[in-house]
Order: sequence, then structure tokens, then C-alpha cells
Amino acid sequence: MTNSLVTVAYIAASALFILSLAGLSNQETARKGNVYGILGMVIALGATALSAEVTSYSTLLAVVVPGAILGAIVASRVAMTSMPELVAILHSFVGLAAVLVGIANYLQPESGLSGAEESIHHIEIYLGVFIGAITFTGSIVAFGKLRAIISSKPLMLPARHGLNIAMLVGSVVLGAQFMRATGTSGLQPLLIMTGIASLLGIHLVAAIGGADMPVVISMLNSYSGWAAAAAGFMLGNDLLIITGALVGSSGAILSYIMCKAMNRGFISVILGGFGTGTATSKPKDGSEPVGEATPIDVDETVELLRNAKSVIIAPGYGMAVAQAQHAVAQITKILRDCGTNVRFGIHPVAGRLPGHMNVLLAEANVPYDIVLEMDEINEDFTETDLVLVIGANDTVNPSALDDPSSPIAGMPVLEVWNAENVVVMKRSMASGYAGVDNPLFYKDNTQMLFGDARQNVDAILGQLAALSSKSGAVLTSTR
Ligand code: TAP
Repeated sequence: MTNSLVTVAYIAASALFILSLAGLSNQETARKGNVYGILGMVIALGATALSAEVTSYSTLLAVVVPGAILGAIVASRVAMTSMPELVAILHSFVGLAAVLVGIANYLQPESGLSGAEESIHHIEIYLGVFIGAITFTGSIVAFGKLRAIISSKPLMLPARHGLNIAMLVGSVVLGAQFMRATGTSGLQPLLIMTGIASLLGIHLVAAIGGADMPVVISMLNSYSGWAAAAAGFMLGNDLLIITGALVGSSGAILSYIMCKAMNRGFISVILGGFGTGTATSKPKDGSEPVGEATPIDVDETVELLRNAKSVIIAPGYGMAVAQAQHAVAQITKILRDCGTNVRFGIHPVAGRLPGHMNVLLAEANVPYDIVLEMDEINEDFTETDLVLVIGANDTVNPSALDDPSSPIAGMPVLEVWNAENVVVMKRSMASGYAGVDNPLFYKDNTQMLFGDARQNVDAILGQLAALSSKSGAVLTSTR
């Protein structure tokens, strides 16, 4: 393939990647967005493989084919709830690739560059390796935390910010040495910096608590993009630069949006937990939420549903684990057919990945127009008869608003307790992802429907379906 054809193919692939991002920003166009992305990647890989730079197909096939097979197997087997882990480990590969490409590029004997061009090339290498090493180890720690191999509690070393600054300063000093070195004698400072940046990646992510993990994942996504862009500069590959910049900037924007949704300071999160040092999982005075939780059974829940004119469903991670979304969709349909106003309230970080609940509800064919974002629905709880909280916990925790010492203090939450009645479906009184007690469970208008969400939702569905087939409408008799 001639160079100009490769360039045309790269431009087409870049345009498709941009269309893909645009498509993915909306549920209704997400499928199309995926198709654009796949097409773009096929063109990009095809054009690169056929370009004049590839001289040996045996090496290319030997790495691409097993990689593609492994990737396909892992991606097809991964549970939706484990998706952030997969994303985290994939980011680590991008980081490692940037490190290896950078070092290999530096050792390449005939770069043919001199003067300012050579200096710029060395800066690209140094920055690419630095960002790559942070992404590599940071992503591995994020993977470990999400997999619960490593504790999700923030690691609070004494003088941790000082340590970060020292590592940064050390890297800058080594950078100056690297830039002054001739030939390949800068390898030593480059490798020492790689070690320091790897430690920095571990330390930055280890210092971030569980509740901020979504932001970390999307920040690492952004880092991996910048690492790829840096690799693109090193290799003189325009497509890699464009793609890396798209990933880098969209990851940064997503992190910023998430920080806003969780009321976290963007800079404080990415710098490894500034401002989280004093937060505890219990109120400062050591008090526990007061009162007793009131249990409820399936029959009583069905009765509440039959009497309610307006219902809001607040789904969370537990609904995803229990795979209850299809039964929830059927309950919604029966209730709506009987005239009940049923809507869904979606917290921006419900579940374990951005848009997790939206994906599950779309998969179960819940109409888009009744799936509302937190900001759109939060004021409506006061006029709602019943809220069904299905496997959500942190995202409906009033202590985020009431308790300044809570680790989730300041995070906007679904204010479900303002409804007339709240039924919380979960298996026990256990805390959610952030490990924080939830005073919602002890409120007078809250009742706990204990058990696996799928089993309880199925049981509710069974009763509602039986009632509706008997009377044609389940609600008319009781309202
Ligand atoms: P969580 O606060 O994690 O609570 C989920 C609840 O589901 C748990 O308390 C658990 O209680 C219950 N549960 C688990 N399995 C269940 C089952 N089979 N049946 C019924 N209940 C079940 O969920 P959330 O409200 O969705 O909040 C999400 C949390 O994850 C936030 O802290 C967020 O910051 C964090 N996070 C979010 C993301 C993104 S981007 N969405 C990524 C990483 C982390 P039991 O054990 O008592 O059943």
C-alpha cells in the first residue's frame, strides 16, 4: 500500500473514531457508535498491516493472532459487573506498550535525527515512558482494588504528598540528565525514571479510596490515551496521535463530569486523595445510625405497589449482580399498563461503571423516556408514593448530605427518603462499595425486603402477573 493510501485510510479511521465517540454519547445511537468504532479499527489495523513499514508478516501474525483470540475470549466472557476490572487491566497494557516502545525507540541506532529534532524526539520518549509507567502500575493497582485482591481503603502514608512531589522532582532531574546524554548513554536515567514513575503510579492509585475508584478508572483511561499519543509521536504515526488524543481528552472530560456528579475535587482525586485524609466510615462522634430497620415481605411489597399511583425505581449494583433487570422491566410494564406512573432514577455512579444501569435497562427494553438522570428526578421524590431501591446503597445514602465526616460527604445522592414509602431490596444490612453505614435503612418510612434481588423481584412479578391475568388490571380494586 502506498504512503498516500495509508494516509487516506488513517483519515477515514480518525473520522470514524470521532463519529463513534459522538454515537456513544447517547443510548439511542450507541449501537451505531460501536459499529463506527469497529469499522475505524478494522481500517486502521488493515492499513497499518499493509503499509510499507511492515516487512515481516510472520512476526506481526505471531503477536496479533493470539492477542486477538485472547482478547475476544476474555471480552466475551466478562460479566458486566467486572467490566471496570477488564478496562483497568487493558489500560495497563497500553501503559506497558508505551514504556516498551519508548525504550526501544531510544535504543534504535539510526534515528537519523539531530539538533532540535533529536531533542524533541527525546522529550517525546521521556514523557511517553513516564506517563506509560504511571498508567501501567496505577492500572494494576486499580485492577487489584476492583477485584478486591487489594484493600479498597486509601493507603495513607505519612507525608504522602511530599513523597509524590519528591518523585516528580526526581523524574525532572533525571530528565535533565537524559536530555544531556549522548548516543544511548541516557538509558540509565531513563530506566531509573521508569522505576520511579512505576512507584508513583502505585502510590497515586493506592491513596485513592473505593468511592473515588470510578474517577480513577476514567483518569487512567485518559492517561493511557496520552501514553498512546506519545507513542504515536515517537513512531511518527498520525493515527496513533489522533486516537491517543481522543482517548486522552474524552477520558479527562468523563473524569471531570464524574467528579462533579460525586462532588469531588477533580485535582484532589487525581493527586491521590487530597482532602480525604480526615474522612471516616463512621460519624465522628462514633455514633451508629440510630433506630431499628423494619423488615417487609413480598406480599406487603406487592400491596404497596398496588396502592401506589407513582413509583420510582432506584437501581444499583445489587440489581446488576442479581441480573434482575428483565423481571424489573416486566413489573414496570404491568404497572404502567394499569396506569401507575413508573420511572427510574439513575445515579451517575450507580453500579460499577459509567452508564451501568442505563445499559442493563436498555438490554431489558425499558423505554428510554422513563429512565431519568438523578438531576431530572430528585425533586420528584416528595410527590412519589413508593420508591423501590433495588440493590443500591451508597447512591441513596442520606449521610452524604447530612454527615460531613462521611467518606461520601457532599456526593449528590438520590433523595429517595423524601417519598411516602421506601422499600429497600438487599440481602443484609451490609454496607455498599464505599463501606459506609446507611441511615436510610433506619428511617420510619423505609422497609427492608431482605434477600436476593432476583428472587424477590421474581416473586413480586409472579404475584402481579397472576393478579393482572385474573382481573385484567391489578390496581383498580385497591386504589
Ligand atoms: P453499592 O453502594 O455498591 O451497594 C450495592 C448493594 O447491593 C450492596 O449494599 C449489597 O447489599 C447489595 N447487593 C449485592 N448483591 C445483591 C443481590 N444479589 N441482591 C440484592 N442486593 C444485592 O451500590 P450503588 O448504590 O450502585 O453505588 C455504587 C458504588 O460503587 C458507589 O460507591 C460508587 O462510587 C462505586 N463505584 C461506581 C462505579 C461506577 S462508574 N458506577 C465504579 C466503581 C465503583 P447486600 O450485600 O446486603 O445484599
